[in-house]
Amino acid sequence: MRHETIKLELTAAGYDELTERERLLVDAARAAVEGSYAPYSNFHVGAAVLLDNGEIVKGANQENAATPSSLCAERTAAYWAHANFPAARFEAIAIAARDASGREVEAPISPCGACRQALLQYETLAGRDVKVILAGSREIYIAPSVKSLLPLAFTEF
Ligand code: THU
Repeated sequence: MRHETIKLELTAAGYDELTERERLLVDAARAAVEGSYAPYSNFHVGAAVLLDNGEIVKGANQENAATPSSLCAERTAAYWAHANFPAARFEAIAIAARDASGREVEAPISPCGACRQALLQYETLAGRDVKVILAGSREIYIAPSVKSLLPLAFTEF
């Protein structure tokens, strides 16, 4: 028998400690929250994907009366990014959220399992790490890659 421990690597930073590019992406994710349509949860999420052609693509969660038809901010942004810029590769994604009070969440939220899997697909396509920046009002987490957030991932068959 063999036991293994898989570590999760994160950097916790303040907004002022980010690079200018990271700050721009966090700003875009915060702005993207405006596009959220969340009449059921009242939890508003924005995501911004930075592509290697310099484009920043925004997305926000879209809810539906038929609940499973809803889509998270991350996949809205990721699918729009690839659908509109199929030749471009992902470099980073930032995520921000506001709760029902309308204030930004203090602690960063992180992508659900389905979004991690979807983002991993574009990281694999890019052939390099896609940085994941999770913005909260108290602090910001930076994960070096999508795969770091999805150990033992399923990537091929
Ligand atoms: N949501 C996202 O858009 N991204 C996340 O990372 C977590 C959750 C959305 C889904 C749903 O519309 C609402 O937030 C509450 O779960």
